[in-house]
Amino acid sequence: MAEPEIPIAGLTIVAHPLVQHRLTRLRDRRTPPAHFRSELRAVASLLGAAALADLPLAPISIDTPVAPMDAPALAGAPPVLVPVLRAGLAMADGLLDLLPEAAVAHLGLYRDPVTLAAIEYYFKAPADIASRPVVMVDPMLATGNSAIAALDRLKAAGARDLRFVCLLAARPGAVAVRAAHPDVPIWTAGLDATLNANSYIVPGLGDAGDRAFGTEHG
Ligand code: URA
Repeated sequence: MAEPEIPIAGLTIVAHPLVQHRLTRLRDRRTPPAHFRSELRAVASLLGAAALADLPLAPISIDTPVAPMDAPALAGAPPVLVPVLRAGLAMADGLLDLLPEAAVAHLGLYRDPVTLAAIEYYFKAPADIASRPVVMVDPMLATGNSAIAALDRLKAAGARDLRFVCLLAARPGAVAVRAAHPDVPIWTAGLDATLNANSYIVPGLGDAGDRAFGTEHG
């Protein structure tokens, strides 16, 4: 019998069958880029709904075709979505399907091949990011280095209410992100045990950006 998984505080694995079914299709190497993108978009909506389940509501007065009523509507400024370039773009549309009124900030980081440090090459966010819920999206939480750097950057820009939605996490990276940013909860579809020597998640699904955008090698 498999060992029960040890939970990581602040990390939620969304066990919904539709999430798990889509994750399996995304893991399957036979899934071509067009299907990979549509599955990732759909699973991002489901994960985003879980991550935003605590958004505040306030009653507004409306008229149905039958009668007036006070009905709940989202209160406060709409969230800011932050896809981490490039693979995060493939998830952002799924969250925008849920929340078309959200703002989209973009954050571009690459890993210096020598120092392995995360270097920023693009950042654009709304000026009022400090007063809005912020949802960072990046499909793969592997070593955690780029997620930690991205969350550092968002906090430096003023973000306070931060959440991180990823498709798949590796346990060591998830532990590292939670240690560096214990105030940032994480939602994911799966938690894999380990990374290989090239920092790919095992069993994982390969390079999410390459699979989404059809740039896989050989
Ligand atoms: N990034 C990916 O796209 N895949 C991994 O397995 C690790 C990092």
